[in-house]
Amino acid sequence: MKPFIACLMLTSPDGSLHPSRWTKSPDGDRYDFSKICDKVREELQCQAWMVGRVTMAEMAKGAPHAPEGPHMVARPTNFANRDAKSFGIAIDRSGAVHYKGADLFGDHIIALLGKDVPDSYLAELAADGVSYVVAETSDFDVGELLAVVNREFGIERIVLEGGAATNGALLASGLVDELNFIVAPALEARSGTDSVVELGTDGLAGKVELSLIDCQQLGHGMVNLRYAASKPSNS
Ligand SMILES: NC(=O)c1ccc[n+]([C@@H]2O[C@H](COP(=O)([O-])OP(=O)(O)OC[C@H]3O[C@@H](n4cnc5c(N)ncnc54)[C@H](OP(=O)(O)O)[C@@H]3O)[C@@H](O)[C@H]2O)c1
Repeated sequence: MKPFIACLMLTSPDGSLHPSRWTKSPDGDRYDFSKICDKVREELQCQAWMVGRVTMAEMAKGAPHAPEGPHMVARPTNFANRDAKSFGIAIDRSGAVHYKGADLFGDHIIALLGKDVPDSYLAELAADGVSYVVAETSDFDVGELLAVVNREFGIERIVLEGGAATNGALLASGLVDELNFIVAPALEARSGTDSVVELGTDGLAGKVELSLIDCQQLGHGMVNLRYAASKPSNS
């Protein structure tokens, strides 16, 4: 079964992905904004957070450290800690993220990997105590990998926290059930900047439909624009 996926993004009214570039506000600062995001994340009651390769690499901050070969590794899965209470999931087709241990922010790491990741990388993850699921076919079907995560770890609800490319890809493939855009009183307004959802040059028209669930005022001048996401009715 596919877990329920709620996307949670802190953004400005002009859709900016980068709080470090925003205007200041008398209503609050980045510390206040991030506290509010933490509160919304808690209310979503998810057992796992999930991010793309770029975002996970920024947080994991590891360097390559594969053990000496030969490598005897488990494929397609390695379940290092099924009893963890909370999880952080990385979508990392090429096996490019390096970790400093089995957990990040106290949450057990699960890497979703592409078919062609080398044994040396899997050996590194296993030595770190990181769990992984490797795709068995060349098409990297995140839904299939998440069904394994659901079955093996009992994860039923996931909060998807970007970045833009990951949000776009998962919305396009119909995996996202709900959006929570936490809009802060700030603007970026640089030309050509990153927005919170991106999908190549075609975008998402015709691939997903949103309908408003709620608009909550959150304090510090922030609102949560909460939308249900579904496949287009004529698809
Ligand atoms: N404002 C916020 O709340 C917020 C939250 C999170 C992140 N951020 C910021 O967002 C920036 C990163 O965003 P980003 O869009 O560049 O990167 P990203 O979404 O973190 O990672 C993108 C990569 O993830 C992999 N990926 C994700 N979904 C995939 C799919 N369905 N199929 C195949 N591969 C998939 C691809 O990796 P490969 O190219 O290796 O295949 C892709 O290039 C960072 O600066 C971060 O600080 C902001």
